[in-house]
Amino acid sequence: MTKRILLIIGGGIAAYKSLFLIRELAKRGIDSRVIITRGGTEFVTPLSAGALSGDKVYTDLWNLTDEAEMGHIELSRQADLIVVAPATANMLAQAAHGVAGDLATTTLLATDKRVLFAPAMNVRMWEAASTQRNVEQLKQDGALFIGPDAGAMACGEFGDGRMAEPNIIADRIEAALLGDMTLDGLRAPKSLKGKRALITAGPTREPIDPVRYLSNQSSGKQGYAIAQALADLGAEVTLVSGPVDLPAPLGVTRIMVETALDMLAACEDSLPSDIFVSVAAVADWRPAKTTAQKTKKPKNGPPPLELIENPDILKTLCEHEKRPELVIGFAAETHDVIAQARAKRLRKTCDWIVANDVSGDVMGGNENAMILVTQDGEECWPRMEKIHAARKLAHSIANALGSSN
Ligand code: CTP
Repeated sequence: MTKRILLIIGGGIAAYKSLFLIRELAKRGIDSRVIITRGGTEFVTPLSAGALSGDKVYTDLWNLTDEAEMGHIELSRQADLIVVAPATANMLAQAAHGVAGDLATTTLLATDKRVLFAPAMNVRMWEAASTQRNVEQLKQDGALFIGPDAGAMACGEFGDGRMAEPNIIADRIEAALLGDMTLDGLRAPKSLKGKRALITAGPTREPIDPVRYLSNQSSGKQGYAIAQALADLGAEVTLVSGPVDLPAPLGVTRIMVETALDMLAACEDSLPSDIFVSVAAVADWRPAKTTAQKTKKPKNGPPPLELIENPDILKTLCEHEKRPELVIGFAAETHDVIAQARAKRLRKTCDWIVANDVSGDVMGGNENAMILVTQDGEECWPRMEKIHAARKLAHSIANALGSSN
C-alpha cells in the first residue's frame, strides 16, 4: 500500500532542500502531494515541485477550481502524514495558535493527521522565547519535530537553525509512518512503549600496548539503525557501543566502551531489560598482557602475541539471572548461512538469530540481506538498506512481545 504525505513548503531558503526531499521519498515508495505557501513560491516554483511529485501543486486557498476539485479538508484527509518543511517561525506561530490565514495553515488547522515540522530559520529567531513557546505548544498538541541542525546559515550566522537534511527528514517520515503501521500496511498489534531494549553495536578494541590494538571492520551502522528503530517504536533504548564514527541515535542512551570486558560490564549494569539485541562484533580474543609502555620491535623476528578468550556477552546474558525476555543474536556467515545460524541459536541459547551473509560488502556497507532464524523456522528478507532491515526487525520484535502480553 503506497503511503502519501502532504508536504507544505514554507517561505525560507531551505525550501530548495524540500525538492530533494520529494525525490528521496519517491525512491522509498512514498508519494508527496505539495502545498507551497506564498513565501515558499519566492524560493521554489510549483512547476519544479509538481515535476518531481508527479502531481498537482496547491498554493491558493481561494482558488475555486482547487476547492471544487479538492478542498483543504480533502487535502489533509488523503495524506498519511503532514510534513512542514521548511517550517518558518511564522508558520510555527500560526500553527501553535490555530491561525488559518492561507491554504497551508487552514489545512493544518483542519487536519486529524500527525504533523511533522522541520524548522528552518535564523538562530536568533529559533532561540526567541516566543518560538520556543510555540514549539513546546505544538509538541504538547502531538506534533513531531526534526531539527533544526546546527551549522552555517544562509544569513551568515552560525548556530541552530538549518533545516535537517532531506534523507534524515525522509528517515523520520518513514519512522512516523511505520509508528502506526507495519511494513505490510497492517496495524502493528503493539508498539514498544514501556519496554526496555539493550543493544550492542560496533567492534571492540583490545589493546596490545598504548598505541596498538586488535579490532575488526564493524561500522556499527546496523546496530545503530536497530537502536533507532526500537526507539521510534517507543522503547526505552540503551546502546552499548564500541568505537565507531556515528552520531548517537535520537532518543537513545548511548554508552561508549572500548573492550569486550567493558562492553559486558556496561550490559550487565543496564539490566533489567525486556529485549537484548547483540549486534556488536565482539573480539573473540584479547591479548593476554597489555603493556603500559609501547613495545619495541624485537631484534630477532616478530614478538609472540599470546591471546586469551573474551567472555561471550550474548551467551552470558542468555544465562543471566536477569535474562531479557527476548534475546537476539547476530551471525555473520560466509557459507551454509542457515545451517550455521540454526546451530548458533541453539549453542548460544538465544531466542532468535539474525544471520547475515557477509561474503559480499555487508560490513561497512549500507545494505544487508538478513535471514531471521527463530524456533519456528526461517524468514529470508530481501537485500535492503540497513535502516529498513532495522525497522523490519523492530516490528517483528514488537509483534513478538505484543502477543505475549
Ligand atoms: N558475541 C558476543 N560476545 C562475544 C562474541 C560474540 O556477544 N565474545 C555475539 C555477537 O554480538 C553476535 C553473536 O554473538 O550476536 C555472534 O556469535 P559468534 O559465535 O561470535 O559468531 P561469529 O563471530 O560468526 O563466530 P563463529 O566464527 O563462531 O561463527
